[in-house]
Amino acid sequence: MRRILPRAFALLSLPAIFWLVLLAGRGGMTAPPPKTANRYIGSEKCKNCHQAKKAGGQFSKWKEMKHAKAFDVLASDEGKKTAKAKGVDDPQKSPKCIKCHVTAFEVPAEQIAKGFNPKHGVQCESCHGPGEKHFKARFAAAGDEEPSEDKEYEEIPDDEIVKRPPLKKCLECHNEESPNFKDFCLKKRYTDVAHLDPRKSRTEAELAAMKCGCGEKCSCKKGECGELEEKKGTKEKSGD
Ligand code: HEC
Ligand code: HEC
Ligand code: HEC
Ligand code: HEC
Repeated sequence: MRRILPRAFALLSLPAIFWLVLLAGRGGMTAPPPKTANRYIGSEKCKNCHQAKKAGGQFSKWKEMKHAKAFDVLASDEGKKTAKAKGVDDPQKSPKCIKCHVTAFEVPAEQIAKGFNPKHGVQCESCHGPGEKHFKARFAAAGDEEPSEDKEYEEIPDDEIVKRPPLKKCLECHNEESPNFKDFCLKKRYTDVAHLDPRKSRTEAELAAMKCGCGEKCSCKKGECGELEEKKGTKEKSGD
């Protein structure tokens, strides 16, 4: 950590001074966010500690998924075609599209840390919530230790970061408002996304709850896995 941190601060400080001077000069200096704010920091900040294969390789698994390309896809031929059909000129600039294709859409600026890059698409924090508090806590706990492949699993407090994104989080984007919406078995998709840590032991019941709830082939039609009920917020199935 010692080797990484000073370098990171050196990189951060120049632009920070630039903005401070600029803002102060324009009289636009606003009150600093409260120290307790838990800001969005971006997926790159999770990489160091969450790419070890032995621990589930969450970073590389996310990188291989379409979520990591959700912003780029808006500029593809398919993206332009969809945009045209919706009367949108530039889908990478239109709230009509980016609301579901980036992380932290419309989150107030003081809750976004410097260096956060919306172009990285649907990032870790779209599902796990803002990561700054967790980031700081884990750095503090690690002290001078380098991230290691052989580290044992450690339990962290439940209020540090969202450990289990609820299915209703997925439905904020995976719903009929999406021009390319495909009917799907949400439970199966949830299992597809989960990048589980093999070091962590789970009870049979926990594992069963994560498996597809839509029949063997997961070929359920809309409504069959309870997703419509969940959308209305009448049922919370993910906590089991
Ligand atoms: C300094 C290292 C470090 C950084 C940076 C870090 N984490 Fe973690 N994270 C940990 C450790 C250690 C644990 C506890 C589990 C373990 O031993 O691996 C953990 C646990 C988690 C868990 C809960 C897993 C469980 O126990 O059920 C999630 C979710 C998570 N991290 C997401 C993130 C995200 C998202 C980011 C980036 C915003 C991030 N982490 C950045 C070290 C880190
Ligand atoms: C309500 C959220 C939401 C909005 C708004 C939205 N999208 Fe999407 N978009 C999604 C989701 C979720 C998917 C993944 C499709 C799936 O697997 O169901 C997706 C997929 C796509 C794809 C990939 C094609 C595919 O079939 O997977 C393109 C291209 C795309 N969207 C373009 C756009 C454009 C352009 C706009 C704005 C006019 C837009 N989207 C607005 C949620 C949204
Ligand atoms: C912020 C919006 C957003 C949230 C939240 C979200 N998704 Fe997505 N998801 C998307 C978009 C957009 C795409 C399509 C990206 C593309 O085609 O490039 C997508 C694609 C996917 C895919 C196809 C990925 C692939 O690589 O083939 C799966 C599976 C998926 N989402 C599952 C989930 C699950 C499960 C959750 C909740 C734990 C979730 N998503 C939460 C926006 C979101
Ligand atoms: C589309 C939503 C989504 C995104 C994006 C996402 N995750 Fe997850 N993550 C999940 C789900 C779902 C689980 C499984 C939760 C469960 O039921 O235990 C999970 C579990 C985890 C766990 C705990 C593994 C375990 O065995 O308990 C860690 C650590 C984690 N994610 C880190 C990350 C990191 C780091 C990123 C970004 C590089 C990321 N996640 C991106 C949805 C997501």
